[in-house]
Amino acid sequence: MKPQFSNLRATIEDALDHHLPHTSPIAQSLVEAMRYAALGGGKRLRPMLTCATCTALGGKLEDALAPACAVEFLHAYSLVHDDLPAMDDDVLRHGMPSTHIKYGEAAAVLVGDALQALAFETLAKAPAGSDAVRLRAVQLLTDAVGWQGMVAGQVFDLESEGKRLSMSDLQSLHSAKTGALIGAAVQLGALFGNPDLSSETYVLLGEFSQRLGLAFQVVDDVLDITQPTEVLGKPAGSDSAANKSTYPALMGVEAAQNYAEELLDEALSLHARAGLEHNLLAELAVLAVQREF
Ligand code: IPE
Ligand code: IPE
Ligand code: MG
Ligand code: MG
Ligand code: MG
Repeated sequence: MKPQFSNLRATIEDALDHHLPHTSPIAQSLVEAMRYAALGGGKRLRPMLTCATCTALGGKLEDALAPACAVEFLHAYSLVHDDLPAMDDDVLRHGMPSTHIKYGEAAAVLVGDALQALAFETLAKAPAGSDAVRLRAVQLLTDAVGWQGMVAGQVFDLESEGKRLSMSDLQSLHSAKTGALIGAAVQLGALFGNPDLSSETYVLLGEFSQRLGLAFQVVDDVLDITQPTEVLGKPAGSDSAANKSTYPALMGVEAAQNYAEELLDEALSLHARAGLEHNLLAELAVLAVQREF
């Protein structure tokens, strides 16, 4: 990974650490488990997208950090709940025991709840932007992750186990469970980077992130089959064990890989049309799709 990206990731991890609580007068174990779930690893793709979009539109990196952390707290919560026995029942995450294995199921449910609340608290208190920007940001993130977004996608995912979905249903599933938060990561970067952005650029960025979000989940499905557990840091073959509806299950591994590349090409041409200040965001898109874990 380029030093530019490792530096950005380190800056984001410092900010996550800063926004997470350190002590609690009544629930110290909760605070420890929240820190375990949020600081224990991960590519930090979504917060990097928020930062790269913000700076590509002329905004300052420091103005993107609070929204970037909000997105990552939301993502960390989604993984804690996703691994629970009632959902994907996966015991490993980031090469370490999943939160419910380490702290117990009740704690993991509550860690997810607390990280979600912390996400919105972090966003509502973002030092950059006006009250109008912060309100719009909260609305945008709730739409992406609530009943019409990520949570709906997770329900659709669980209800589709053992079924053969149509391509268009599978696309809706992936776009909701994964695409919506990736889309919000980019939109939040845009909002904090330039709240007066032209609607044309905003729409192009929306379409860019929609292609990228879908490609990201297609690749996640492929890697579940092609990579070993040691590389993934999560149990390989989890999708087929649960009879999940995935792109490789529907069209085969190679066709799914080609589909992800096609989506990436579309995303890159949308990015080019948006005419941004530098190419960090496009480079991140390539990294997000051409990845090994
Ligand atoms: C995993 O996301 C869950 C999906 C939506 C596919 P990531 O692959 O971004 O997870 P980490 O944070 O980098 O481990
Ligand atoms: C998870 O998708 C999506 C969310 C957590 C919202 P997966 O179930 O495919 O993610 P992994 O493979 O466990 O990381
Ligand atoms: Mg899942
Ligand atoms: Mg899972
Ligand atoms: Mg997966």
